[in-house]
Amino acid sequence: MNDDRSAEPMIDQRINRDNILEQVRVFAPATVANMICGFDVLGFAVDAPGDEVTMTKVDRPGVRINSIEGDDGRLPLDPDQNTVSACAMKVLEDLGLADEFGIEIELVKHMPIGSGLGSSSASTVAGVYAINALLGNPLSKEELLPYCIEGEKIACGHGHADNVAPALMGGITLIRSYDPLDIIALPVPEGMYAGIVFPHVDVPTRDARQLIKERIALKDAVVQWGNVAGLIAGLYRNDFSLIGRSMQDVIIEPVRAILIPQFAEMKEIAMANGALSFGISGSGPSVVAITQSEEVAQTITNEIKKHLDKQEIESNTYVSSVNVEGPRILN
Ligand code: HSE
Repeated sequence: MNDDRSAEPMIDQRINRDNILEQVRVFAPATVANMICGFDVLGFAVDAPGDEVTMTKVDRPGVRINSIEGDDGRLPLDPDQNTVSACAMKVLEDLGLADEFGIEIELVKHMPIGSGLGSSSASTVAGVYAINALLGNPLSKEELLPYCIEGEKIACGHGHADNVAPALMGGITLIRSYDPLDIIALPVPEGMYAGIVFPHVDVPTRDARQLIKERIALKDAVVQWGNVAGLIAGLYRNDFSLIGRSMQDVIIEPVRAILIPQFAEMKEIAMANGALSFGISGSGPSVVAITQSEEVAQTITNEIKKHLDKQEIESNTYVSSVNVEGPRILN
């Protein structure tokens, strides 16, 4: 036995030093959590917007945030409080590399914080995917997911996975169980589009979660689990009519819609212009119309934006198919 070696940190056997890179730049996508009827258990990724993380390996141990763009100074630069750095540090520690070298991070946010588009999740997933890529991909996506869920806890105090799972895995994901974690990839129907509108009001996930009642009526639960099951069946059958009539939320939407200006009017516009369904994206204030074509999604977002303009409410719109890839390396 070699006494000197026993004092060194255990380096995970999957680390091959020849595969460690100097720098990586990663994009991770925004997500529509809940998919209207599946609070905390369903979500899908979109093509845009998304966040970018650049990670650079440096000699000095520790993880540092060098810059954050696009957050209006709202995100913490303290590496313990920022989800990107905190999660990257945890990966380095768990792989036994934290004393060997350090990481410097640049984060570019392309979507608003508190928008209901999984803003913190996109950054966290980009960061966790980036550190893994920098180290030569020692961990699988399934192994990376718990780090991303920890990131959600740092960001909003709760470890829901319906943003980070689709952002990391791509496509539509079901969180069948949180304990133990059981993530199921669902089929993505050909031609499914999301028309998303973000009205410029701030709804922090933490606050939007506090509004929700701890207990729900059995009659509402019956409606909701019928809808969740109907949505899953619709995805497997590629049945847009079933998907549309199943994406209804009788539990969360009535409570949260009051935080979103013009919600009822936006829903009316979406349904009148051919949406299969319409509801809140994640914890809001973004709203989402599910459609069977890009053109319909475009018309709906244009019409809603025109309506919000008249009400002097600024907004951003996004039209996207489901992003089946998840994060991607940009360099
Ligand atoms: N399921 C979470 C919620 C998603 O609705 O609070 C937050 O983006």
